Amino acid sequence: MCGIVGCTGRDKASDMIIDGLKKLEYRGYDSAGIALLERGKVLVKKKEGRISNLEKEISGERFTATTGIGHTRWATHGSPTDVNAHPHTSQDGRIAIVHNGIIENYQDLRKKLEKKYGIEFRTDTDSEVIAQLLGVLYEGELESAVRKAVKMMEGAYTFGAIAQDEPDKLVAYRKDTPLIAGMGERNCFIASDMTALLKYLDEIYLIDNGEMVVETPDSLRIYSPDGKEINKKPLKITWNQEDAERGGYPHFMLKEIHEQPKAIKETLARRIGRNGKIKLDGIHLTLKDLQKFNKICIVACGTAYHAGLVGKYIIEQMARIPVETDVASEFRYRDPFVDEKTLFIAISQSGETLDTLMSLREAKNKGARILSIVNVVGSSVARESDDVFYTWAGPEIAVASTKAFTTQLVCLYLLALYMADLKGTVTKEYYNSMVSDLKGLPDKAKRVLRKEGQIESMAKLLYNRDNIFFIGRGIDSSLSYEGSLKLKEVSYINSFATAAGELKHGPIALMEPETTVIALATQDRLYDKMFANMEEINARHAHIVAIVKSGDKKAKTVARDVFTIPKCRDELTPMLSIIPLQLFAYFMARERGENIDKPRNLAKSVTVE
Ligand code: G6P
Repeated sequence: MCGIVGCTGRDKASDMIIDGLKKLEYRGYDSAGIALLERGKVLVKKKEGRISNLEKEISGERFTATTGIGHTRWATHGSPTDVNAHPHTSQDGRIAIVHNGIIENYQDLRKKLEKKYGIEFRTDTDSEVIAQLLGVLYEGELESAVRKAVKMMEGAYTFGAIAQDEPDKLVAYRKDTPLIAGMGERNCFIASDMTALLKYLDEIYLIDNGEMVVETPDSLRIYSPDGKEINKKPLKITWNQEDAERGGYPHFMLKEIHEQPKAIKETLARRIGRNGKIKLDGIHLTLKDLQKFNKICIVACGTAYHAGLVGKYIIEQMARIPVETDVASEFRYRDPFVDEKTLFIAISQSGETLDTLMSLREAKNKGARILSIVNVVGSSVARESDDVFYTWAGPEIAVASTKAFTTQLVCLYLLALYMADLKGTVTKEYYNSMVSDLKGLPDKAKRVLRKEGQIESMAKLLYNRDNIFFIGRGIDSSLSYEGSLKLKEVSYINSFATAAGELKHGPIALMEPETTVIALATQDRLYDKMFANMEEINARHAHIVAIVKSGDKKAKTVARDVFTIPKCRDELTPMLSIIPLQLFAYFMARERGENIDKPRNLAKSVTVE
């Protein structure tokens, strides 16, 4: 969602900030702005819409400022207009701020500021109260004003601030949404996401809740909530700039779909030792722990939730531990049955999804052991977990998640198999052949990707359909949900997914000639049942696209199109069958001319409720 970038140093701040903001575009936004300490004054430029609008607005300006802050806003309070865009300034225009999060008591604060100080608010945002508060509290030192202001605010408020009277200073504060800081050779930076700064920094500081950062061109200081300066260990950045660029692909989504074989390999490589045994990073899950757990709760949102649905099948099947998978926004409000006998698994690409983070805290308060599967190193979910299992997918930029999903699945397979081995619920033969099959996945994924043209041709025929259904049984049903989500997200086609066994309980009423149904039939164990479902739909003259294992001769008797994935054991098919579904969503959206990497109304990282 919203993005923050700020810098102070020796180089032109406007260039570095705009460049950083562009790297944050993927998070989703609807306006952008910048504030600079330009020739002794706070100068603000902000525009509704894309960063290119802001660039147009400032083109021709000869900025010299070396200190400034910038923001991409995803509207929550107040519509996405020029006025509501950040940065916001204090009444006297001497202080500017950019903010991520929601100030819950902003109405109270606003009334107080209006009444006591005669402040006239200019915007509909909650964020403006930060600027106005700092304005009335400022007595010549920005950090003192920040310290006083944060005592009065409630909610989530990570912000960056600059003041006209302190031209070489940048102050930032973190509360509940991410903040990083770093010092390069010539400039110091703050940002909400390390992708903004890959070009400038090799290492960063992860700022924790309640901490304040004070930067000048030559210094970076971090203060604890009680005001003491602290020495933090920097974190080496392992992603590089090229990872966050399109590298010749027309869209990040297509690039990231194609990166899956490499990402799967990376995620596996670190966890399977030379002896063929799984090592779970530093995670200490002993047999004693496992005997203590009477259930596992997997909690996540969006695509990560669908990975969790697959996780339920594989953990229950291999490790024989009951698993509940829940969407985080439901879990956190239903007073779930969780205690010290629960292993809670949070899955999140960004590690910043608010509902997932809050669910984690809820489970932690109830005594559960917290393990997370996360892509972004040092993110909030990772930091608040007892154990972290990182996916090594590299930066995922397209809003629609692809390589994060397959790498989350790899972690779940490794975890399930590790637990099964400890508990003795699988044989040695099963364990060894599963490890070897996991290692074979990157090559099989490459083989699926080589058949991309088949999906592209299919999309050219089907792109103007109004409704598309996805069905499957067992583990394939989870995949049908993910296939349907991908299609909705990027092509805006109405789509519905269901477990095929549920067809007769309602959805079959919607089947008419030419209705398009993507049917996943990759499970040997359930094939006959699934085939019967396809026959029923075919009898209604629907257009079936079947996804089956190679060697299948039967599907073509009922399906108009058949896409085959390489033969593999039933448990592992999601790793391969998701690829044609991702490609299908991509090509359908491309044929319809949609904004694939930044679909309307969606954000990459949902840091508000
Ligand atoms: C948003 C994104 C999805 C993502 C979901 C969960 O909705 O658009 O792509 O799956 O959030 O995000 P997380 O970072 O927690 O995996």
